[in-house]
Amino acid sequence: MREIVWHEASVSRARREAQQEHRSILLWFTGLSGAGKSTIAHAVEETLHARGARTFVLDGDNVRHGLCGDLGFSMADREENIRRIGEVTKLFLQAGIITLTAFISPLRASREQVRELVGARDFLEIYCQCPLEVCEQRDVKGLYRRARSGEIRHFTGISSPYEPPQAPELVLDTGALSIDESAAAVLDLLARRGVLA
Ligand code: ADX
Repeated sequence: MREIVWHEASVSRARREAQQEHRSILLWFTGLSGAGKSTIAHAVEETLHARGARTFVLDGDNVRHGLCGDLGFSMADREENIRRIGEVTKLFLQAGIITLTAFISPLRASREQVRELVGARDFLEIYCQCPLEVCEQRDVKGLYRRARSGEIRHFTGISSPYEPPQAPELVLDTGALSIDESAAAVLDLLARRGVLA
């Protein structure tokens, strides 16, 4: 919009990062419902927080109550959901925060859009790879059962597609690994990327 001019903050991302001794980065967890995205993101956050890092987890079940409360689960709504989250994470990166997101984000193109939006250097795609049968057996929220009975339509993995990442920065075999093992692999990735001083 021509009437709106971007205001450049004088407290820049670089100054924030220098003050807190770690850079900001986006950890984008993707995978089926029940694959462990949220649980692992929060476990990683606990460790980072204990080390004094500034972190935040954005989670599907929370964001959909507010910012994306008007959206459902059609493909168009899921695309809009991820587009909005992408914009939010871009702001969080400017704020110097290690941001962790836990959204199914079933479409490859949507995830690539976020990668492009925030820049590849700041985007780590983490695929929580868990067989549908395992997610369905866990059925923590009882949603798979309701999807199978036809009570919930367009359910990811049952009646709506999931496109696995082709070149994620990390794959977690969450059907077999413990939460601690998965979290350790993520922390190891952050160490290799030099995110933490
Ligand atoms: S996404 O597809 O747009 O990325 P998001 O991660 O925000 O989805 O929300 C997924 C969560 O919403 C699931 O973990 C589940 O608890 C709930 N949910 C409700 N209906 C559906 C559905 N039809 N498909 C997938 N998840 C659903």
